[in-house]
Amino acid sequence: MEKVIDENKQGQSLVLDQKEGNTKKLFIESYGCQMNFSDSEIVASILYENGYNTTQNLEDADLVLVNTCSIRDKAEQTIRKRLEKYNAVKKINPSMKVGVLGCMAERLKSQFLEEEKIVDMVVGPDAYKDLPNLLAEVEEGRDAINVILSKEETYGDISPVRLNSNGVNAFVSITRGCDNMCTFCVVPFTRGRERSREPQSIIDEIQDLYDRGFKEVTLLGQNVDSYLWYGGGLKKDFDKATEMQKATSVDFAQLLDKCATLFPKMRFRFSTSNPQDMHVEVIETMAKHHNICKYIHLPVQSGSTRILQEMNRQHTREEYIALIDKIYAIIPDISLSQDMIAGFPTETEEDHQDTLSLMEYVKYDFGFMFAYSERPGTLAARKMEDDVPEEVKKRRLNEIIDLQQRIGLERTQRFIGQEVEVLIEKESKRSDAHWSGRNSQNTVVVFPKENYKVGEFVMVKITDCTAATLIGEAVGYSEIMN
Ligand code: SAH
Ligand code: F3S
Repeated sequence: MEKVIDENKQGQSLVLDQKEGNTKKLFIESYGCQMNFSDSEIVASILYENGYNTTQNLEDADLVLVNTCSIRDKAEQTIRKRLEKYNAVKKINPSMKVGVLGCMAERLKSQFLEEEKIVDMVVGPDAYKDLPNLLAEVEEGRDAINVILSKEETYGDISPVRLNSNGVNAFVSITRGCDNMCTFCVVPFTRGRERSREPQSIIDEIQDLYDRGFKEVTLLGQNVDSYLWYGGGLKKDFDKATEMQKATSVDFAQLLDKCATLFPKMRFRFSTSNPQDMHVEVIETMAKHHNICKYIHLPVQSGSTRILQEMNRQHTREEYIALIDKIYAIIPDISLSQDMIAGFPTETEEDHQDTLSLMEYVKYDFGFMFAYSERPGTLAARKMEDDVPEEVKKRRLNEIIDLQQRIGLERTQRFIGQEVEVLIEKESKRSDAHWSGRNSQNTVVVFPKENYKVGEFVMVKITDCTAATLIGEAVGYSEIMN
């Protein structure tokens, strides 16, 4: 699942081709959302040009970087444990340097250098271009820190290397930061103001991926539907743009349309959509292009209008339902997924029932569900008491997860008997005689390999399924291959 925290990938260390002449070894590990994994590719590219090749052996590393997540307390605890592991290695190899990147670096700033003695460098998400300078400081024996957030940085000029890639799927970031200020969320504090990347640099990156044989691109951002390019500058300053800038601006629907039109042999996904910014033009653009996948990750967080207000989400339950109705009307075979938070401050049983009934109504194919975790500095932490007892949060979360599993199974079953288009991504984990890929709706499909190859689009007749996996047999290539 692209957006999100893919538990299988947490902590994955990243490796790429080696550059001759590079003498130092970088071990880079990523936690959290896809944006962090994507940022680590940018970081590795920058360091690749500055003397570092990557390694998968922590023990061999001259430099260890960990790209961190602050979204929930548990995410931060996992990273603190990793730092203990680095500490043990540093005892054997005292010249090894350790740097913390990403959201936790931004949130804790110099506190990190004071608390965690093993950390030599702290670098926030907008400061990666400063890494060569910061490393020079570290090499001279000083701690180094840059956590300045930028209003312009999009790394649009850096062509990221692809780490641990299957050569088929790639992520391309289109916006950075978030202006929404949901009261529970640290992202606006750790990743700064929302900015959009220049469309041509996005297209160039996709062209490069296409030339190298990639078949699927996921456009990434905290809130992709809010994408807006008018020659640079923050989204919030669009009002002040000239008439010319306004007339030539590019919004998300236009960007999607451009991508799908320019690259008809590739497939496009995007993540994440915020309900308040998901407009009908985007849905219509999806409907118009076969190669835009019929899947929308549309986090709602709660089914109760009162809680949505407390969360500062900019829509009611009814408005969300109206959006869902519109999506199903325009794209009947769409699949949808949610993020939910159980036990936000003041949540009552009635609010919780509203969440369950909303899920019954929408019929999400997938879901990412969490117990509320108070994050220091957020409005909810400052103004609201974390008053739902832990066991109540857990019980509500379990009810949400159980319901999602039931609905998810029904949604998976709907494909039985259908022929679906699958992009082959890799060998199935369970059997080396089967391929694994996903259909347009993002459901995993496995089928016997026959003579098909990774990266091919195949029509698969679905005969059976488990809770989240479709099982079938290939019946030929998809038209996209012609
Ligand atoms: N930009 C994305 C979400 C980023 S965070 C969006 O608009 O949805 C990913 C998910 O983590 C959120 O959707 C939310 O469900 C969850 N999350 C964020 N802060 C949280 C917190 N304090 N406690 C529990 N879950 C949280
Ligand atoms: Fe966080 Fe809300 Fe933005 S969940 S990332 S503040 S849309």
